[in-house]
Amino acid sequence: MSTNPTPSPCPPETPAWWKEAAFYQIYPCSFADSNGDGIGDLPGITGKLDYLKRLGIDALWLSPFYTSPKADNGYDISDYLGIDPDYGTLSDFQALSAGLGQRGLRLIVDQVLNHTSDEHAWFIESRSSRTSPKRDWYLWVDPKGFDADGRPIPPNNWKAAFEGSTWTWDAPTQQFYLNLFSPKQPDLNWKNPAVRAALHDVLRTWAQRGADGFRLDVINMIAKADGYPDVPRPEGNTDPLLPLNCRACNHPPLHDYLQEMHREVFAGHDLYSVGETWCVDADNTLDFTGYDRNELHGAFYFYFHWAPTGREQFENFYKLYQATRGKSWLTVTLGNHDSRRSLSKFGDPIHHRHASATLLATWLLTLPATPFLFQGEELGLSDISFDRIEDYRDIQTVNRYHTAVAAGTSPEAALASVREDSRDNGRTPLPWDASPGAGFSTGQPWIPLAEVHRPQHAAGAIANPDSIFNAYAALLALRKRFKSLIYGDLTPLIEPGKVIAYRRGAWGEFPSVHIVLNWGSEPQAWPVPPPTDAAPLFANYRETDATTLRPWEAVIFVESAK
Ligand code: GLC
Repeated sequence: MSTNPTPSPCPPETPAWWKEAAFYQIYPCSFADSNGDGIGDLPGITGKLDYLKRLGIDALWLSPFYTSPKADNGYDISDYLGIDPDYGTLSDFQALSAGLGQRGLRLIVDQVLNHTSDEHAWFIESRSSRTSPKRDWYLWVDPKGFDADGRPIPPNNWKAAFEGSTWTWDAPTQQFYLNLFSPKQPDLNWKNPAVRAALHDVLRTWAQRGADGFRLDVINMIAKADGYPDVPRPEGNTDPLLPLNCRACNHPPLHDYLQEMHREVFAGHDLYSVGETWCVDADNTLDFTGYDRNELHGAFYFYFHWAPTGREQFENFYKLYQATRGKSWLTVTLGNHDSRRSLSKFGDPIHHRHASATLLATWLLTLPATPFLFQGEELGLSDISFDRIEDYRDIQTVNRYHTAVAAGTSPEAALASVREDSRDNGRTPLPWDASPGAGFSTGQPWIPLAEVHRPQHAAGAIANPDSIFNAYAALLALRKRFKSLIYGDLTPLIEPGKVIAYRRGAWGEFPSVHIVLNWGSEPQAWPVPPPTDAAPLFANYRETDATTLRPWEAVIFVESAK
């Protein structure tokens, strides 16, 4: 990578609230429980708005809270407009929305438009008969034939994200339906204009109810490969089913659907959209997020799943930045409800918890991109580890475990194989205080509290000026004070390696700043002159040592005038 490239001329960014906002993702069932049933709920969130305001975030992304049998914790919606009774009522949503408004905070809600629950009225109607008026709302296909035992043969070899075939047999109507995730999540037929119109209505209704935008679940999977072709079999592979990976994404006429959705829902309104977009990166993000495209405002980039080092993080981000500068606006995140805890994935929670968590915070909050924090990152929560599969709740973890055991793996080995990547790592209840229920609930939580999280509770973190929480708050405040941290050009100061150093250029009256990150547990030499000013804008060690960067040291300082 070449450092200090001559910046190509490009128009200055037009400011927008969603470029400047720092978002905080809430996974409602694990955030705060107001009524003692062990499940986090909307009033629980409303009760924590002062906490969020104090942290300094600007907007929430709320994972699904709609009516759902919760086979996939709400990503299986049975009524798009209803609120699940476990989470509250419409007036609880209105109270939350009002509480946010009073504090100047915005809200985007999650919408799952690729599939519904099999308990959604649309699907119940669709499966009722081949001649149902809603038959064509889902993807029904005849069997390829029947095997010697009379069992129907599915149309292809596609493996679902949560194990098994993507095709579920419906004996009464003698057809398969498509489910890219689980049989409880049948895929909608986006080719049908009535389906699209109904989904646009859903989005418009939530906008009228106060949402400032949407996080759109697996939105680039809504168009399917024509003819449902088999996944090509790698040589020597004998598995009956093969994962789709990127073959599930980006099929035509996806961009027509997104442009139509933009026209029908977003045009003329100040609503933000961010897509969960697997298989979108520097090569194709402009097709989705280019300012001239009128599709999505933002896309999530999933390299954080496979790029554990600082160098890889920087290189991936910088590639995206170079491809999109002046043409679209990026997002950055380190984790979400589907990933491991970012501190365990990237940092060193055992030996350098504070320094590595605050270095990650510094990275997340000093890039020309909209940052998305995941609940608990501000407390420095790390991965969990349960001893029994019965304590895990995530459909993917549990199904993977049972598939491994059915294939002959020992239960201990199967548990070990699913534990590290389990989505439950990020889904256990937040610890709020030192009480037995950790202030999350007075009842039995729906998933066990992680013992390792108890000491990191929010009450203690707020009271401790040196906490990870207070470092996040300082960084979030700095991002507001120095708009160069949002809009200024990004330039690497050195070839990224164990140390990452970059400059954010001046923007308007805001000066340029340097960010230096020692992304690892070994001391390193300063790669650039350390700050001359005794008080950098932010540092995660008390005093700067001018000769050595200590493990996970992160420093932000105004570029000296010379
Ligand atoms: C997305 C969600 C995930 C869910 C899946 C199916 O990847 O983030 O939690 O299981 O879609 O809706």
